[in-house]
Amino acid sequence: MAKVLIGFMGAGKSSVARLLDEDFIDMDEVIVDKIGMPISDFFESEGEVAFRRIESETLQELLTSDHLISTGGGVVVSPENRQLLAENDQTIFLKAEFETLYDRIAQDKDNVRPLFNQNTKEAFKAIYDERQPLYKEAASHTVSVDHKSPEEIAEMIACL
Ligand code: S3P
Repeated sequence: MAKVLIGFMGAGKSSVARLLDEDFIDMDEVIVDKIGMPISDFFESEGEVAFRRIESETLQELLTSDHLISTGGGVVVSPENRQLLAENDQTIFLKAEFETLYDRIAQDKDNVRPLFNQNTKEAFKAIYDERQPLYKEAASHTVSVDHKSPEEIAEMIACL
């Protein structure tokens, strides 16, 4: 069964996954390969609904593998995805305070998040607030990641 990391943008899902297993699968990278363009371009040309459809398809494909999977922060928006994740024994929610994530995302010039660019800070916080119960619903474990290094977080997850 797959081990799946979920959590809001900037929570460190990919950085932690890389430390746990260098053969981890980054769901956003799989999607970028499928769509043949950066996610931000796809949001602009095809819209978020089209992105969510491909994201759901990709999740279903990957959950059948035995890999460690790092997901995109919006994977929990779909009720079907949440159910699939909840049925998975090891779905781990990397939980962090909004301000921690906001500062990190603002500084991350290598990974452009369309929802960050398209929204005011207040609207972005509303998305964060809306999603917190969705991550909890999907997760089998929750790990608080504020003020922890990726190495410390990886160690906690390895012990689960
Ligand atoms: C999204 C998060 C992103 C990416 C896309 C949408 C979201 O992934 O899938 O921009 O809706 O939260 P990260 O969580 O890796 O930034």
